[in-house]
Amino acid sequence: MKILITGARGMVARAAAAYASSIGDEVIALDRGRLDISDRENVRAVINSMRPDAVVNCAAFTNVDGAESDRATCYAANAEGAENLALACREIGAKFLTISTDYVFDGKKKGFYVESDTPNPLSIYASSKYEGELRTRAADPNAIVLRSGWIYGPGGTNFLSVMPELLAKDTAIKVVSDSRGTPTYAGDLVRRIRELIDKDASGIFHAQVFPNHKHPAALRGKRLPLLAV
Ligand SMILES: NC(=O)c1ccc[n+]([C@@H]2O[C@H](COP(=O)([O-])OP(=O)(O)OC[C@H]3O[C@@H](n4cnc5c(N)ncnc54)[C@H](OP(=O)(O)O)[C@@H]3O)[C@@H](O)[C@H]2O)c1
Repeated sequence: MKILITGARGMVARAAAAYASSIGDEVIALDRGRLDISDRENVRAVINSMRPDAVVNCAAFTNVDGAESDRATCYAANAEGAENLALACREIGAKFLTISTDYVFDGKKKGFYVESDTPNPLSIYASSKYEGELRTRAADPNAIVLRSGWIYGPGGTNFLSVMPELLAKDTAIKVVSDSRGTPTYAGDLVRRIRELIDKDASGIFHAQVFPNHKHPAALRGKRLPLLAV
């Protein structure tokens, strides 16, 4: 399979590219410099010239706190970017998968979220990702939206990714205690991505979604009762 991966420098993109290469795919992994997903013409031109069988969108504005003060850039990548890719994929008949997030939920449910649960995004990042889901599905009904959360792996800078290194040091570590989620290993997630593409699935899928994130500072303490353990 000829597979195009966006956001090539990111944690999930690197895992996706490594896995795809390991199973013999022809991999085109493009970083922002070669494919800015927020640029509709750039997206259209690149997808048209590369003509991949499948596109896996790992590019996103992922700075959850930073999004609160940079809504435009966040929406350009997460909402418009996903839509741009979906439109371009539909045009050439390529399978499109975009990764979304457990942040689309408000965390009030006591237990795992399922695909039929209604999102209620509470932050700019969450709203932009949900908007990306809606636009993706409208632009390409055959697209796959895969929600996940707490993804960790090599190259990651989030809590779980850096913990092993910190724990190896003989120093005390301060961590939050009011945030819960379901850790998802990037290496497992990319296998799931490939399964969904191989099955020619379409619609929304969850890969372990049990969110109770610490939402950005502006929202903390306002609307998010913590989930019971
Ligand atoms: N990590 C998690 O726990 C988690 C959980 C749920 C869902 N997700 C989703 O999973 C996907 C991958 O996340 P990740 O953790 O691998 O993120 P990441 O490591 O932050 O990588 C995201 C990549 O996207 C690139 N990017 C940003 N804007 C772009 C644009 N306009 N055009 C092209 N590339 C752009 C970034 O490039 P620059 O470095 O140049 O900014 C970065 O390399 C995202 O959709 C994210 O929302 C992640």
